[in-house]
Amino acid sequence: MTTTRLTDKIKSLFIDKHNTSPLLIQSPGRINLIGEHTDYNDGFVLPAAIDRYISCAIDKNGHADRCSVYAADFRETCEFNLTDVKPQEKGSWKNYVLGVVVEIQKTGKELSGFDIVFGGNIPNGAGLSSSAALENSIAFGLNQLFGLGISRRDMTLISQQAEHHFAGVKCGIMDQFASMLGQKDHALFLDCRTLDYTPVRVDFANHELLLINTNVKHSLADSAYNDRRIACETGVELLQTKFPHIKALRDATEDDLLGVKPLMDTEVYTRCLYIIQENNRVQQAVTAMGDDDISKLGSLLFASHKGLQHQYEVSCPELDYLVEKAKQNSDITGSRMMGGGFGGCTINIVKKGTADRFVQDIEQEYSRKFDKKISTYNVALTDGTGLTEL
Ligand code: GLA
Repeated sequence: MTTTRLTDKIKSLFIDKHNTSPLLIQSPGRINLIGEHTDYNDGFVLPAAIDRYISCAIDKNGHADRCSVYAADFRETCEFNLTDVKPQEKGSWKNYVLGVVVEIQKTGKELSGFDIVFGGNIPNGAGLSSSAALENSIAFGLNQLFGLGISRRDMTLISQQAEHHFAGVKCGIMDQFASMLGQKDHALFLDCRTLDYTPVRVDFANHELLLINTNVKHSLADSAYNDRRIACETGVELLQTKFPHIKALRDATEDDLLGVKPLMDTEVYTRCLYIIQENNRVQQAVTAMGDDDISKLGSLLFASHKGLQHQYEVSCPELDYLVEKAKQNSDITGSRMMGGGFGGCTINIVKKGTADRFVQDIEQEYSRKFDKKISTYNVALTDGTGLTEL
């Protein structure tokens, strides 16, 4: 569904239900050029907001505490009282909304009754951060509606905390940050320690970005995600025994890691090595983009995938198949899995005009091998969360 039609649908659903004229917010999904799992290691990432959105309509309802949220895509309503907001069943969309409400309440800001209707055109489970987009749309909407004066940066932290405490995923800041602060035609070179960032123009001249969705939903990913985080923290604790200045893997070099290798089990060592190398790759990617060196950028993407597949072990056969096929195709400069892993999309840098041919070449074999179909998306890079301009 186009974003204009989506917004129209959400707005008229809201008016049908509540009979008032709501604020309309749109909050984008994100891609990530490179820098996977580096965010919660205080490292660097290079994400961008994309033209797929959660559209959210919101208004006050005059009640002191009573609120309702209608999820148009699920045809489900969640009614709750502001004095008693609790996490819901695991995996439910409700946690993303309620989590944000509670995190705002924790800051001491006052809310009163409101109604929300939302829906989206970000494919679910594709690793395009529909959940961060939803969290941000709620944070932005409440901030606007009640004049709370929360900065964009703090709204990203609120959304992240909602994910930790209500959704149960100890995610980094990348998704929420890219969705909230994205800039048209740019990726954000973000330092996840300081939250300082530099917009990097994405203009590949003869190449373009192509996302290919494995249509594998990353269902087992949550616990594996949290496990990876623990492995990194274990690594840091051991590194600190010899190098007290190391506060996160971002501070460590490969040599430092070698220095404590005898103390570590192989798995922790390999995970940490991946992070240190991936963090370096992000910085090299930014340089390559500044130099218009598309082939260097592409090789960094392939290297990133290799690390995610063999060292960090968050890939899956479907993702590996797509990247392998991309590697064999001379029109594709770089390809890798994107996001948390275990499913979702690959991101590919392809020569303009060749994407269809590549997809045609692989789609039948993919279906035969994995008994499911791929989907493809062309995306444009957009601005972050904001009011919808009608
Ligand atoms: C998920 C998390 C992000 C990040 C990526 C992996 O999308 O939400 O914080 O860790 O995985 O790079």
